[in-house]
Amino acid sequence: MINIHAIISALRFYGQADTYYRVHSPFVFEFLQIILEDNRHYYIFDQLNALRSELHKNKTTIEVEDLGAGSKKSNLKKRSIQSIAKTAVSPSYQSEILFKIAQKIKAQTTVELGTSLGLSAISLAGYAQKNQVYTLEGSCFVLEVAKVNFDLFDATNIHPRLGHFDNTLPEILKKVKQLDLCYIDGNHAKSPTLQYFKMCLPYVHKHSVLIFDDIYWSKEMTEAWETIKEHEAVKFTIDLYFFGLVFFNADIKEVQHFKILHSKFKPWQRYI
Ligand SMILES: C[S@@+](CC[C@H](N)C(=O)[O-])C[C@H]1O[C@@H](n2cnc3c(N)ncnc32)[C@H](O)[C@@H]1O
Repeated sequence: MINIHAIISALRFYGQADTYYRVHSPFVFEFLQIILEDNRHYYIFDQLNALRSELHKNKTTIEVEDLGAGSKKSNLKKRSIQSIAKTAVSPSYQSEILFKIAQKIKAQTTVELGTSLGLSAISLAGYAQKNQVYTLEGSCFVLEVAKVNFDLFDATNIHPRLGHFDNTLPEILKKVKQLDLCYIDGNHAKSPTLQYFKMCLPYVHKHSVLIFDDIYWSKEMTEAWETIKEHEAVKFTIDLYFFGLVFFNADIKEVQHFKILHSKFKPWQRYI
């Protein structure tokens, strides 16, 4: 089905967004250079792509219990791993950005809402063993597949938790006490997204980053994103269209909201 909201938002985003060359803040400039424009290639990216290709070919069917606003294209109860991999899992460029954000902020405690087949958790955990990644998933058989993938990567720093986010998120937050990074990629509806944001707030610190996936997937998600941007605890945000990044650095006096795309999409902005 064609998502009119996403298409209109993409066109508007393209018109409004700048490349990082137009960013004056040294911190944001360097951050974007590393997560978006740095072409450094890591071995784990090849391994993740190989796994992604395997999952795309896997026709095994499993029972799926989606507790959120639905997977992006299908709400079937029985689904093939192939179809989950093609519709519900972040593409490789997004996985690579997750890896680079975790690495850039030297995350040691990361929480992910929405494990699915585990590729994004592996990306978040991949930069260093010291990053403890707690990944939450409500669908039991999907999580079983993810656990097999964690074993393939020997990712002992990933800690999967089964259950509804409403129960598992407060439990994990209480356990970790402090949150460096949180990737919110499940239950794409306004009210739960805002609820998870508020639950995370007492655990963030000045270097924490929250990443919201699919902020233009629906009108509701865009409204949630706009509400999050207005929250008094938020010091600046970076809108990459597919991800909305939230920062809390109290040293930043003036609240700023950036919309940024890769310079290949506006090459004339490469010259200041
Ligand atoms: C878009 S997928 C996550 C994709 C994954 N982060 C990746 O990029 O590889 C969202 C997942 O969240 C799970 N989910 C959605 N709402 C949930 C809820 N309220 N509690 C627990 N799990 C939920 C779904 O079962 C689904 O597997």
